[in-house]
Amino acid sequence: MSIVNCGVRMAENYLPQVRELYETFPFPARDPATENPSAVPVSPTDILGKINHHGFGGRRDFTKGFRALVAGGGTGDAAIFLAAQLRGTDAEVVCLDLSEASLAIARQRAALRKLEQRIRWIHGSILDVARLGLGRFDYISCLGVLHHLADPDEGLRALADVLGEGGAMGLMVYGRYGRLDIYAMQDLMRLINRDEPDLPAQVANLKAALRGLSPAHLLLRGRGREQIEALIANESNIVDTFLHAQDRAYTVPELYRFVEGAGLSVVNFTNFGHVVRLEYEPDIYLADAALKARLAARSLRERQAIAELLHGHMFLHTLYAARPGCRAASFRDPDMVPFFLTVPGAEAAERLRGRGAVKVRLSSRIVLAVAPSPPALACLALVDGARPLAEIWREAAAVLGEDADRVAAAAAADLERFNAFNWLCLRHRSCPPPPSLAYGYRRDAVLAAD
Ligand SMILES: C[S@@+](CC[C@H](N)C(=O)[O-])C[C@H]1O[C@@H](n2cnc3c(N)ncnc32)[C@H](O)[C@@H]1O
Repeated sequence: MSIVNCGVRMAENYLPQVRELYETFPFPARDPATENPSAVPVSPTDILGKINHHGFGGRRDFTKGFRALVAGGGTGDAAIFLAAQLRGTDAEVVCLDLSEASLAIARQRAALRKLEQRIRWIHGSILDVARLGLGRFDYISCLGVLHHLADPDEGLRALADVLGEGGAMGLMVYGRYGRLDIYAMQDLMRLINRDEPDLPAQVANLKAALRGLSPAHLLLRGRGREQIEALIANESNIVDTFLHAQDRAYTVPELYRFVEGAGLSVVNFTNFGHVVRLEYEPDIYLADAALKARLAARSLRERQAIAELLHGHMFLHTLYAARPGCRAASFRDPDMVPFFLTVPGAEAAERLRGRGAVKVRLSSRIVLAVAPSPPALACLALVDGARPLAEIWREAAAVLGEDADRVAAAAAADLERFNAFNWLCLRHRSCPPPPSLAYGYRRDAVLAAD
């Protein structure tokens, strides 16, 4: 399939420097020549099982008439990952990007995996998406893009306009408090490069400045010089991070305003490979019972805002959004089938069988003790990706000599916590199981040594 812009002339509604940056440094850096064609790139937000759980209440059958848009698809991770999972269905995946160089790499990578024809490639801007006549989408993945628009609100509204009724979005934007070091560095580079229009020369200055940072610099807190050298080795990444002409970041309250301003609602936070949803929960940081009790009555969004500030270094926020009224699948619904989404999730359940407690290390180095209640442990031992919760509660109740309703009530919060680790998801019993994935993303929550 060739790259088209559907006959619509791209309006000059983007900053030329932004396009130039992604034409010169397609992001993320990917080299089709050295890739293993049998390995599929993972875009953690775009795992169908997760999208179904959060965006469709577990009730979406992806085998029939599913349409996905990857808006600002870059070098192709999300579009290829979605197309690979949707192989063998009649689903359509559209990949849109402003950068022709990025699209060219994405297409080569898709071709390596015999997926090029399964994706429709569009060279264009998110702001033109309605005029491109692409129709409406069930799912829109837009990761790391909207914060680079002059008016991200306009960008999100444009995407909301092409989201079908009952559709969902996976969104990732920068987190304000986790990027204080980056913004200090961007300020420095604006001063250094103010009389240097040439991008390669700006990059050379950036590398020299990174090597010259004082040990007291924010960027060197928690990082050694060798980690700065590792950063420098990935040119696309340092350009995207430190030389960007246009980006903005969000706090949790700003994020809610952003999403709701487009007529959508936040369904759930999720992970992109950085924080997991559980990290938006203040109780995981606090030991003080009085302070925990004080915060217990606050609204969910205020608790999430407090958790963001307790964490202190959330540099990305990733979430599912949908039209108001959309709810994630519920661990109280008897017709839902739980399944392990990830290898560490299944390992944790296995280890819990023997010990009743495990330690879990999150990507941000937080280590948590996890000790599910006996009803939750009994339920976890019965998760096989086929039994619905009603059956699991009944069988767990028989093992424990308990009432099934009481088991259900007692287990729900701990199972929800497994979901907040990104380990366990639900699908309605009427939906076919999602494709099984050899999925072991390196930044998932993992088991820590006891
Ligand atoms: C940081 S990259 C993210 C790529 C990919 N989504 C990912 O997460 O790996 C941002 C991408 O958004 C694209 N982009 C920026 N502004 C855009 C716009 N107005 N319309 C479409 N794409 C845009 C850029 O060309 C670039 O490929």
